[in-house]
Amino acid sequence: MSSVERVRKAIIPAAGLGTRFLPATKAVPKEMLPIVDIPTLQLVVEEALASGIEEIVLVTGRGKSTIEDHFDVSYELERTLRDRNKNDLLREMEKISKMVRLVSVRQKEPLGLGHAVLVARQAIGDEPVAVLLGDDLYDCEGRKPATRQLIDAYERLGGKGVISLMEVAAGQEHLYGVVAGQPAGDGTFRISDMVEKPAPGTAPSRLIIVGRYVLPAAIWPILEKTQPGKNGEIQLTDALRELAIEGAGCHGLVIDGQRHDAGDKLGYLGACLAYALKRPELKPGLLALMRQLVTEHDA
Ligand code: UTP
Repeated sequence: MSSVERVRKAIIPAAGLGTRFLPATKAVPKEMLPIVDIPTLQLVVEEALASGIEEIVLVTGRGKSTIEDHFDVSYELERTLRDRNKNDLLREMEKISKMVRLVSVRQKEPLGLGHAVLVARQAIGDEPVAVLLGDDLYDCEGRKPATRQLIDAYERLGGKGVISLMEVAAGQEHLYGVVAGQPAGDGTFRISDMVEKPAPGTAPSRLIIVGRYVLPAAIWPILEKTQPGKNGEIQLTDALRELAIEGAGCHGLVIDGQRHDAGDKLGYLGACLAYALKRPELKPGLLALMRQLVTEHDA
C-alpha cells in the first residue's frame, strides 16, 4: 500500500457555460447557484476537504471573480457582522475563507471537460488527482464522503483509476456515458469499455459515469494527446477509455450515497429540497409547503 502515490490534490472544473441555467448563469457560474444558502461549489469543496484533499485547483471561466471572492476574506462583511453581533454568521464567513489552499486557473474557452482538467495540469504536477465536477453533489451523510470512497478504492487497487458510477433505470442509458465490464469482486467494477450515449437497446450495462474521478498520474500523457471528439470538445471520457483499454486500467465504484445532478434543473430543485429537509429549522415549514402545493396541484 505504501508504494501507492497519495492523492493530495483535486481539480474542480467550473468553467462550463451552464446553458441549461440561462439567464441565471449569464454572469454567475452555475456552480455558485445556492443549495438553500450554500453555493453548490462550496459543498463540493467541503467534500474534497473531508476526503483528505489538501490542495484544490479550481478551473474557472466567466464569473471567475464571484468564485474567488466567495473563498476569499471579506473584511467589510466580517466587520459589519462583528459590529452587529451576528457571531454565528461571522464564524460561518471566517470558516469559508480559511477552508482550503485554493488555486484558480482559467479555461479561456469551454473546450470540454478533458481540456478543463488539462488546463489544471501545471498546477497539479505529475501526481494522481481527484476530479470533482462542480455541479454534481453527493450527499454521503453518515458514511465516508464520495471522493474518500474513491480514494480508498484507488489505494486498495494499488493506484488504478477509479471513477464513480451510478445505476440508472432501464431505458435511460442512452442519455449518458455507460460503462462495460465485470464486477472485480472487491465492490468495484473492472471497466473494459465506455460508450457515450449508446443507441436505445444497445447499452452494455445500466451503469453510467458520474462526476467524481480519482486518476493516476498515467492519465496526464493520455490526456495530452487526446484529440477533440464529440462537439469538437476534448472529452475526459475519451482519455478514461484509453486508460481503461490500453493503459493501467480503470475501475468504477457505485458510491454509497445520494447523488444530485445540480447542473440539471430538476436535479437542482431536488437537491435544494433534499438539503433543506436536512435542516431542522426548515423541515416542518417546507414539508407543510410541499403538502399544500401537492394538494393544490392534484386538485
Ligand atoms: P457540463 O457539460 O454539465 O457543463 O459539464 P456545461 O457545459 O456548463 O452545462 P450546460 O449543458 O451548458 O448547461 C460538467 C462540469 O464540467 C465543467 C462544468 O463547469 C461542469 O462543472 N466544464 C465543462 C468545464 O469546466 N469546462 C468545459 O469546457 C466543460
